[in-house]
Amino acid sequence: MEGRQLEYKIRFLPGWVEVVQEEDVVPNRRALITGATGLLGRAVYKEFKDNSWHVVGCGYSRARPRFERVDLLDAAAVEALVQDFKPHVIVHCAAERRPDIVENQPESASLLNVGASENLAKEAAKVGAFLIYISSDYVFDGRNPPYREDAVPNPLNHYGKTKLEGEKVVLQNNEDAAVLRVPVLYGDVEKLEESAVTILFDKVQFSNKSANMDHLQQRFPTYVKDVATVCLQLTEKKLQNPSLKGIFHWSGNEQMTKYEIACAMADAFNLPSSHLRPITDEPVGETPRPRNPQLNCSKLEQLGIGQRTPFRVGIRESLWPFLVDKQWRQTVFH
Ligand SMILES: NC(=O)c1ccc[n+]([C@@H]2O[C@H](COP(=O)([O-])OP(=O)(O)OC[C@H]3O[C@@H](n4cnc5c(N)ncnc54)[C@H](OP(=O)(O)O)[C@@H]3O)[C@@H](O)[C@H]2O)c1
Repeated sequence: MEGRQLEYKIRFLPGWVEVVQEEDVVPNRRALITGATGLLGRAVYKEFKDNSWHVVGCGYSRARPRFERVDLLDAAAVEALVQDFKPHVIVHCAAERRPDIVENQPESASLLNVGASENLAKEAAKVGAFLIYISSDYVFDGRNPPYREDAVPNPLNHYGKTKLEGEKVVLQNNEDAAVLRVPVLYGDVEKLEESAVTILFDKVQFSNKSANMDHLQQRFPTYVKDVATVCLQLTEKKLQNPSLKGIFHWSGNEQMTKYEIACAMADAFNLPSSHLRPITDEPVGETPRPRNPQLNCSKLEQLGIGQRTPFRVGIRESLWPFLVDKQWRQTVFH
């Protein structure tokens, strides 16, 4: 892999000439991030940028002004983007990731999660870019954890089915690509509803109201900064070893139900949790979700890849701007 390069610009000022270090980037390390306006994509974009990659992020409804606005359903626009930028890596984060929405609009979700992924895989292959397709632990039914990469998937809902279909079309159309399956994510959010983890926070902090919390389904909340680091590490490894490809798993290792996630949040902010009620009833009438889709991550670990931020640390970093009670904020942070 090429070494780091600094770019310089000469600035002529009255009386003297100044040589300015323009940007500490290596121009021949180019990364394209889809879904760069989303929860994971923002972290991936920042991780590559912070590590001297020349990064183009694209989004859709939230793209302007920071990112390229590209509708991934528009094949001609995607072709132009990839051909113009000629990335070395594409981290494909864009998707419809809300299971309830996918359940109600399976066709439009398929167009994005499957059709756009297939198209991107073909475009990546044309320019020789390493494609990382972000997938989900929801490809498994959760009945026989933990799951290795070669375990047989059996998605329970449409979202899981589209993500699995996406994996297949990516690997069929780009034999050098990687699929990275991850579980429920949290991180810096623009609003609490952006993550299935952070959405619990208001129920935690408004302790005057009791709140029922699922205490049946096992989850492994995973910090987007850790997934972003894994994407970068995987890319760096791929540049050293072009034979690296196929399916990989990454996950946090703290097993919690939503009730336990909420209690851990309360603990992280020194808030009461006695108003939270664990519910162990089987959910009725909801989009089906796997009971315990725990991912075995030993394949990446054996490659020396991985990072795990303790949940209480990651959740404090993510949620402190949403803390309502300044008194607690002082207790925790000063
Ligand atoms: N979040 C989780 O808990 C979780 C768990 C497991 C796996 N995953 C997977 O991780 C990946 C990232 O998820 P996320 O939570 O970061 O998703 P997210 O926050 O919902 O972001 C979705 C992204 O997709 C973009 N997008 C939507 N429609 C588009 C279109 N037609 N053209 C171009 N871009 C479009 C959105 O752009 P705009 O917002 O600008 O429109 C946004 O940047 C997904 O593949 C998801 O399946 C997520």
